[in-house]
Amino acid sequence: MIHHLLDSSEDLSRRAAELVIDELKQKKNLLLGAATGSTPSGLYSRLAEAAETTPGLFSAIRIMKLDEWLGLSMDDPATCETYIRTHLLQPLKISDDRYLTFHSNPISPTAECRAINDMFDTHGPIDVCILGIGVNGHIAFNEPAGSLTPHAHIATLTQSSQHHPMVAGRGGNPPTSGLTLGMTDIFRSRMILLLISGSAKKAITRDLLSQNITTALPASLLWLHPNAICLIDREAYP
Ligand code: F6R
Repeated sequence: MIHHLLDSSEDLSRRAAELVIDELKQKKNLLLGAATGSTPSGLYSRLAEAAETTPGLFSAIRIMKLDEWLGLSMDDPATCETYIRTHLLQPLKISDDRYLTFHSNPISPTAECRAINDMFDTHGPIDVCILGIGVNGHIAFNEPAGSLTPHAHIATLTQSSQHHPMVAGRGGNPPTSGLTLGMTDIFRSRMILLLISGSAKKAITRDLLSQNITTALPASLLWLHPNAICLIDREAYP
């Protein structure tokens, strides 16, 4: 992984959009792995603007959801599903046949993980994977642990993930589990863009930049990926 410092979150989003669009120009039916949350929304807005100015740019792109809060209904405003539909599918006019997703409240989460793995085997790997980083160092919902999991699995969410702003305002008990692609699925991506923005990420960014590779900070494994680019804005820079 290499990393770049950007002056502002706007610059970060603009640079990330340029990188995605450059890749898309080389592969029209690129499979984009899409993290949700606050960090990539600027990037997705830039892509929505490009869809307006360059009709047809996204006519073959495919999107894959990386993770999901387990136990929420699909149309809950807090789901990754709702986020991706609002931030990507609607503005880029992506039909459901170009969207690889999975259920937030499946009858059997274990069977859903098997289905995700089958879907990944058929349609993957991801070409460009957009990642954010949790304040605890997670990527997607691969949470810090003594060992990590290669493929789709049920993640037991740490306290900090349970208090993520996406679900914090919902009221009631926060989700305690998630569904997520695993580390190998993410690692098979041809290109990874790790986006880090905002002062809340300063401490974890300091740990990440130490280049100490440990499963206690899952994002640190990205130092091993041959084509991962980490964009960090000034507010997050330690
Ligand atoms: C969500 C996801 C998470 C977030 C991370 C950072 O789909 O994959 O790993 O990227 O929790 O979230 P924000 O950007 O909201 O700080």
